[in-house]
Amino acid sequence: MGDHVLGIAMNGVTGRMGYRQHLTRSVLAIRDAGGVVLPDGSRVIPEPVLVGRSEQKLREIAERHGIERWTTDLDSVLSDDSIEVYFDAQITHAREAAVRAAIAAGKHIYVEKPTASTLGAALELAKLARDAGVKNGVVQDKLFLPGLLKLRRLVDSGFFGRILSIRGEFGYWVFEGDWQPGQRPSWNYRSEEGGGIVLDMFPHWHYVLEHIFGPVRSVTAHTATHVPERWDEKGQRYTATADDAAYGFFQLEGGIVAQINSSWAVRVDRDELVEFQVDGTHGSAVAGLLECRVQHRSVTPKAVWNPDAADPGRYREQWERVPDNEDFPNGFRAQWELFLKHVRTDAPFPHDLLSGARGLQLAEAGLSSAETGRTVELEEVVLP
Ligand SMILES: NC(=O)c1ccc[n+]([C@@H]2O[C@H](COP(=O)([O-])OP(=O)(O)OC[C@H]3O[C@@H](n4cnc5c(N)ncnc54)[C@H](O)[C@@H]3O)[C@@H](O)[C@H]2O)c1
Repeated sequence: MGDHVLGIAMNGVTGRMGYRQHLTRSVLAIRDAGGVVLPDGSRVIPEPVLVGRSEQKLREIAERHGIERWTTDLDSVLSDDSIEVYFDAQITHAREAAVRAAIAAGKHIYVEKPTASTLGAALELAKLARDAGVKNGVVQDKLFLPGLLKLRRLVDSGFFGRILSIRGEFGYWVFEGDWQPGQRPSWNYRSEEGGGIVLDMFPHWHYVLEHIFGPVRSVTAHTATHVPERWDEKGQRYTATADDAAYGFFQLEGGIVAQINSSWAVRVDRDELVEFQVDGTHGSAVAGLLECRVQHRSVTPKAVWNPDAADPGRYREQWERVPDNEDFPNGFRAQWELFLKHVRTDAPFPHDLLSGARGLQLAEAGLSSAETGRTVELEEVVLP
């Protein structure tokens, strides 16, 4: 079998994620490296076709990167048989309609998370993709980050003994936009445009918990809009209608308890913007995006509570760094390579639209818990 070019319609490439992570650091990087090698030794070489709303922005990107084709007409790429994959990194609210159209046109589907704005819509997309027999996937990039890959390695090695609990801390201060420009798009703070930290982050927490530790069985959450007014990209003041912080408590199969704080209204006193501490009977670990540190039971200091004396414990110095032991590529690129192999060879790809729908189930359950003050059990998500 010879090398073959795989046409990919990429929608949303003028955005933060679409441009930097998916277009330049993944698809173009893979193309420029000569493609992805398949088991039979042939290569699949991705060829992006840019899709978007602004002719001028698309033309600029295409010229900057030597990309031949771009269009503002989605239908024209969907009716083009040389394009086999539709990729979507638009704002969340715009995703569902475009993905529906792409499935109807018989394209394989790869999308940013969340796969849709509601669980119902996400399930519908997963069902349509299954019925149409198209390959499908959702970005679950955190699983491909060095810190979490090392954490996964620890779990697989049995390092923790019985895992007891997980504490996750995610967030940073997002400027309001008046005296310093905000570093996230303003739609993130408007629920009517698909914003909100629960919808943004709970899908991530779902696949991290599910893939590394086990299925999530229930959620209890409290949300807040700590910063009620912000200024948008044009300097206009607006009311923040979406949650900008979520304090979540998740129960996993096997009795593992996970607490994860997510906030765009917190100042960072951590080594990384996200960190998970995992405690087990035999050892503990703290993993971030890049690093992972451990403390085994055999070297655990005996901390003694004594408010009358200065504490001699230098606790943070008593952890050991987990070595890389391998080269870690960009996480988005690593997942793209798996998806491209999956499209061409049926190699397994567990990050499908149904998995994405489970992420939305957790987000919806989290919002419902916050509204009612109750714990919400998660029923198994099945396709009708
Ligand atoms: N995997 C991750 O870590 C990660 C991180 C951030 C965002 N995301 C997801 O990626 C998607 C894009 O997020 P982003 O931060 O890149 O957003 P962004 O605002 O930077 O980009 C949005 C893109 O959608 C397009 N778009 C289409 N219709 C639009 C409309 N009506 N209004 C505004 N833009 C419109 C824009 O032109 C642009 O290309 C979201 O679904 C988000 O949840 C994922």
